[in-house]
Amino acid sequence: MGDNIDWSKAPAGDSTAGGKTFKTKCAQCHVAEKGGGHKQGPNLGGLFGRTSGTAAGYSYSAANKSKAVEWKEETLYEYLLNPKKYIPGTKMVFPGLKKPKDRADLIAYLKEATA
Ligand code: HEC
Repeated sequence: MGDNIDWSKAPAGDSTAGGKTFKTKCAQCHVAEKGGGHKQGPNLGGLFGRTSGTAAGYSYSAANKSKAVEWKEETLYEYLLNPKKYIPGTKMVFPGLKKPKDRADLIAYLKEATA
């Protein structure tokens, strides 16, 4: 496993910085807060501990559903580096966040915002 996807080597996350990243890179397609509804992408409320492809009322790709991974820090850190590599066939059009710090910040934000 490369260091760039190893959560145990991730820098400390800053949720304020992560909130800015969410606004500019994710919010056009996702609402973070529970019950906020789906956009082009599924609502992310309750994300941590949830199995991929299981937000009620959202029509996922077969790829996202059959990945059947539990969303948590470790899996999100790798997924957000390169979503299309982690879930080949996903319909999420997002190139990924290459910088470990950007992903760690975003994960810190998501933990708070989706709880
Ligand atoms: C252009 C729209 C778009 C952008 C931008 C986008 N997403 Fe997505 N996202 C989607 C779609 C569509 C899916 C559903 C994928 C599928 O079913 O294959 C998805 C799926 C996901 C999932 C899996 C959810 C689940 O329930 O399994 C997560 C987590 C996620 N996105 C997080 C993010 C984050 C964090 C960002 C910002 C860095 C982001 N996305 C940016 C459209 C987007």
